[in-house]
Amino acid sequence: MDKDILSRYNSPEGATDYSKKFKRHWTERVNNWNEQRLLQRLLRSASIENIDGWALDLPCGYGRLYYILKDLGASVVEGDWSFPLLEAARAFHADDRDSAPPPGYVRATALNLPFGDRTFELVLSVRLCHHIREHQERLQYLREIMRVSRQWLVFTYFDSRSIKNRTHDFRRQFNGKRSKWTLDRQEVKELGRSAGFEVVQSIWLSRLFSGHRYTLLRRTDSPSARLP
Ligand SMILES: C[S@@+](CC[C@H](N)C(=O)[O-])C[C@H]1O[C@@H](n2cnc3c(N)ncnc32)[C@H](O)[C@@H]1O
Repeated sequence: MDKDILSRYNSPEGATDYSKKFKRHWTERVNNWNEQRLLQRLLRSASIENIDGWALDLPCGYGRLYYILKDLGASVVEGDWSFPLLEAARAFHADDRDSAPPPGYVRATALNLPFGDRTFELVLSVRLCHHIREHQERLQYLREIMRVSRQWLVFTYFDSRSIKNRTHDFRRQFNGKRSKWTLDRQEVKELGRSAGFEVVQSIWLSRLFSGHRYTLLRRTDSPSARLP
């Protein structure tokens, strides 16, 4: 994990800043709206309309995606490494009088989750992978979020073969910026397979303007069996 990025999120200023990210400008509000519609479409495309059991939203940030899981009927655990963002999520949900807040907030690192194997029917993990500096840690992260899922996993990553990444890499020759922290679509597929998952869908957040993919995986190794 990149220490600077992590400590920024973990600071009161960084948490406040992220909590306002999707509210500051109308373009960000539209992006947030589009992203949420995309996630709902992705879930519907696999007929995920009802989750009877627990779901995990980690990292939850200030909790903007909680409602999508809650609307599926799931009992949602909101998790994040940042205490200030967990507080922001708690306040965000408490402000909403029309909706029950989540049953639990947990401080946890996605690299070593404090949950048993296959605890959650669905795990949602959005906009974290591209903040993880080391390739081995990105793979460890993916293994970990698969481990705690009994059935479904939705996660995002920055695709090494995206137009955005290829353009970025070309420009790096001139601007000296660091490379993006990416995954390759094939390695996601293979790591998924080795952990008993198949990739059901993998869609761009925006084909031209974003290198991020929303990827839906389903457990294929006897989903009904809970580990002892
Ligand atoms: C870009 S935000 C995404 C939050 C949320 N998923 C969303 O889409 O709004 C990245 C989040 O990752 C959290 N984070 C960073 N490193 C983490 C780690 N190792 N484990 C869990 N959360 C982490 C940060 O605190 C922050 O809330």
